[in-house]
Amino acid sequence: MSNGIWIEACEVDDIEVEDVIRFDHEDRTFAIYRTEKGDFFASDGYCTHEKFHLSNGLVMGNLIECPKHNGRFDIPTGQAKRAPVCVDLKTYPVKIEDDKVFIQI
Ligand code: FES
Repeated sequence: MSNGIWIEACEVDDIEVEDVIRFDHEDRTFAIYRTEKGDFFASDGYCTHEKFHLSNGLVMGNLIECPKHNGRFDIPTGQAKRAPVCVDLKTYPVKIEDDKVFIQI
């Protein structure tokens, strides 16, 4: 859980259903997801296996598959789900206001 500040990441329509985009803020990078049910989530942008952008990965249901070695994470919880990833992904609270997506970092 984060007690940090809310920052605007993108517009709701910037992310297709069942897709992910990259969002950079200062020296950090995040991944913002929209699942097939239309829910939004946010996590660190890099895979925990190697420093590879998850925004280039594939969203399947509630899973994100890393494009580098096909490791998988549960999007809502960040839990590592398939080798070679074994370290969970850090996730961030998300809220929608006025069709904008905010994440708390
Ligand atoms: S870098 Fe993501 S699974 Fe290896």
